[in-house]
Amino acid sequence: MRLSVWDAYYNHYAENDVLWNRGMADESLVNEILNDRWAHRTDLTFLEIGCGLGHDSLYTLLQPIIMNVICLEPSSSALHSAMVRVRVALSNISTIITTRDDRGTTFVIDGVKRVTFVHAALGVNFSTILGSEPLIDLVWIRSVLQHLCDADAHFILSYVKTLLRPGGRLVVKEFIFCPGVKPEPFVACGQMVGPQHTRPSATFAQLLRDHYRSCEITQSSMQSLCTLKTNSSTVCADVISCTDNAPKPVRG
Ligand SMILES: C[S@@+](CC[C@H](N)C(=O)[O-])C[C@H]1O[C@@H](n2cnc3c(N)ncnc32)[C@H](O)[C@@H]1O
Repeated sequence: MRLSVWDAYYNHYAENDVLWNRGMADESLVNEILNDRWAHRTDLTFLEIGCGLGHDSLYTLLQPIIMNVICLEPSSSALHSAMVRVRVALSNISTIITTRDDRGTTFVIDGVKRVTFVHAALGVNFSTILGSEPLIDLVWIRSVLQHLCDADAHFILSYVKTLLRPGGRLVVKEFIFCPGVKPEPFVACGQMVGPQHTRPSATFAQLLRDHYRSCEITQSSMQSLCTLKTNSSTVCADVISCTDNAPKPVRG
């Protein structure tokens, strides 16, 4: 899907749509943040790729284990909504100092935490704006890869691997389809906006395994969302968490 379509969609539609604006963080992200593996940490750097309206990034920013949040989003309308959402949520409880550099706009919160809003897309035809240093502990991607072709999805998964610190983790949540039940793109504000590259569960899992040695896969019930989108209760979302970012062994 062309990036301008996302912008038009967010401009006219998303804030008032229950499918897109749930007003809360995703349950799988909440579970990840609460996982024992992160207990006793207070310094994590979190990256959300395709943060949309910013609900998930805001949630992580408010968690004691998180110190830095990076929200990457190609739609300027969505990124603006995310910035406003974060500012409004924090304005009564924190001091926010705004700084800007080549990468984007950063809010420094009470002189301690940081959230950076990066206006960019990732993929084969885009720059690697986040650099190539392994500085990220947790990467969250939700409902993004299902809109991207294999080449862009592979690019992102490979790039994320370079960004993850040792022991870092990528968590991806995407609609998949069961045999015979492929969710169709749908029309909203005159545009086709549904997923175009939704993959069967096994294909989706393989995509991740091409880059990461250790992947846990769980299925999440997103039936209410799916019913809205596809009129089918058999479509669900896979959550894949990739922990091991060591290089894959070369097959001999
Ligand atoms: C279905 S929305 C999901 C937004 C958010 N993650 C959520 O779950 O509410 C897909 C998002 O992916 C973003 N996106 C599309 N292509 C992208 C790319 N190449 N790199 C990063 N984000 C992209 C879109 O702008 C859009 O915000």
